[in-house]
Amino acid sequence: MRKTATPEATKQLASTLAPYLHEGDVILLEGDLGAGKTQFVQGIAEGLGIRAAATSPTFNILLQYDGGRLPLYHFDLYRLDDASELEDIDFYGTVEGDGVSFIEWGSKFPEAMPFGFLEIKIGIDEDGVRAVKAHAFGTRARSMLKVWASDSKSRLMKVGN
Ligand SMILES: Nc1ncnc2c1ncn2[C@@H]1O[C@H](COP(=O)(O)OP(=O)(O)O)[C@@H](O)[C@H]1O
Ligand SMILES: [Mg+2]
Repeated sequence: MRKTATPEATKQLASTLAPYLHEGDVILLEGDLGAGKTQFVQGIAEGLGIRAAATSPTFNILLQYDGGRLPLYHFDLYRLDDASELEDIDFYGTVEGDGVSFIEWGSKFPEAMPFGFLEIKIGIDEDGVRAVKAHAFGTRARSMLKVWASDSKSRLMKVGN
């Protein structure tokens, strides 16, 4: 768990994960509206060397960013009503594809999520500080989390306890 007091700190923490991402990795982002999930993806984009800013995909269910070390796919499933719509946006092909996928509101369609993924939950304390927690599902996610957690830069972002 890491605490981030500003949007910049959330982005910086996210950017420390970017070097450890591999083709085909899937990261589920959980947290209320406004928690900072999209900010986190912006930090990933920066960490991958993508120059265009990752804007909120709430109205765009899938945004794709090229030009970085890996293609970045940013899904926001908030506005999807039915899992069948995932096929329309080639969700399954994309998450198994050549890039890394960050998925907001994936918990709406748990049966559609791949077997292995890193889950990142962002909570908001009373003082507005974000608590960023990561939980790995599957062997690939476990090794990703292990190297990320031991990265000295990711530890520098820890504030408070
Ligand atoms: N520590 C923080 N981390 C991330 N965002 C923060 C933080 N403090 C304030 N914010 C603000 O909260 C909002 C988060 O928005 P966004 O990332 O779009 O949320 P989500 O995608 O989870 O709905 C932004 O307006 C951002 O400036
Ligand atoms: Mg968002």
